[in-house]
Amino acid sequence: MLDLARYMEEKRLRIDAELDRLIPAATVRPQRLHEAMRYSIFCGGKRIRPILCLAAAEAVGASGEVAMLPAVALECLHTYTLIHDDLPAMDNDDLRRGNPTSHKVFGEANAILAGDALLTLAFELIAQTPEAGRLGYELASASGSRGLAGGQYEDLASEGKTPDEEQLQFIHIHKTAKLIRAACRMGGIAGGGSESMLEALGRYGDRIGIAFQVADDILNATSTPEMLGKAVGSDAARGKMTCVALYGIDRARRKAQELLDEALASLKGFPGPTEPLAALAYFMVDRDV
Ligand code: IPE
Ligand code: IPE
Ligand code: MG
Ligand code: MG
Repeated sequence: MLDLARYMEEKRLRIDAELDRLIPAATVRPQRLHEAMRYSIFCGGKRIRPILCLAAAEAVGASGEVAMLPAVALECLHTYTLIHDDLPAMDNDDLRRGNPTSHKVFGEANAILAGDALLTLAFELIAQTPEAGRLGYELASASGSRGLAGGQYEDLASEGKTPDEEQLQFIHIHKTAKLIRAACRMGGIAGGGSESMLEALGRYGDRIGIAFQVADDILNATSTPEMLGKAVGSDAARGKMTCVALYGIDRARRKAQELLDEALASLKGFPGPTEPLAALAYFMVDRDV
């Protein structure tokens, strides 16, 4: 049986080594900007998107290594979204990955720039891959106004509004699931997977991506800052439209379970191992961090 903790740790070490190699050193001018980029990348994080990307490449029968550049690009882009998400103009959070948020340490302007630079670096890395066009399209379409940025817009616009199922679905799909879906498809593309495999990976990523945000909503209502490394209770305080606000915790948990089952059902007919993707799906729903 797969030892998921060991699998994730091995992947994390490889991903972190590549992040360290590919993000400019803090000695490179402008030093403070590079320091800020590295601070948010290396102060913690589960690396779930890059690990999904590598696991997807393995599922289509390739080595995870062929998907390393897209994996690193995904983590750079994701970290940009966290830095901007925490800004005073957005969620106004002081704690992230167990440490003070970027704007608390470096100031708002530098936090905005560190985010901008990580977003841009993501596409600089994608441009160096053999499948640059297809990978760039996946990443860009998942993160722009029809993806993550659009989801963040609606998340903020819905603060204080009465929870609504259709609206919540839009927010979860766009702010979170699209990038997770892209992570899975990008691993499949880098690994040379067929169109039907990419479709299955997309379905898996979509379902587990929504479930991941449902779990995030539940943890915001049930965990502690020590455990989670970020604020708790903040969704309710800001009147966020979350799964907990709409359904309550028990129904939200059942919802996540249904989505997990759908994700697992998508993992059929792959030439490579799908145990890591299956185990990651359980982890993403049942996690306590
Ligand atoms: C947090 O993502 C933002 C969401 C989309 C829920 P993660 O839970 O993956 O954050 P890190 O990377 O582990 O810090
Ligand atoms: C998650 O936003 C999606 C992002 C783009 C960061 P949240 O605001 O729900 O995530 P946390 O709880 O701050 O990590
Ligand atoms: Mg937010
Ligand atoms: Mg937030």
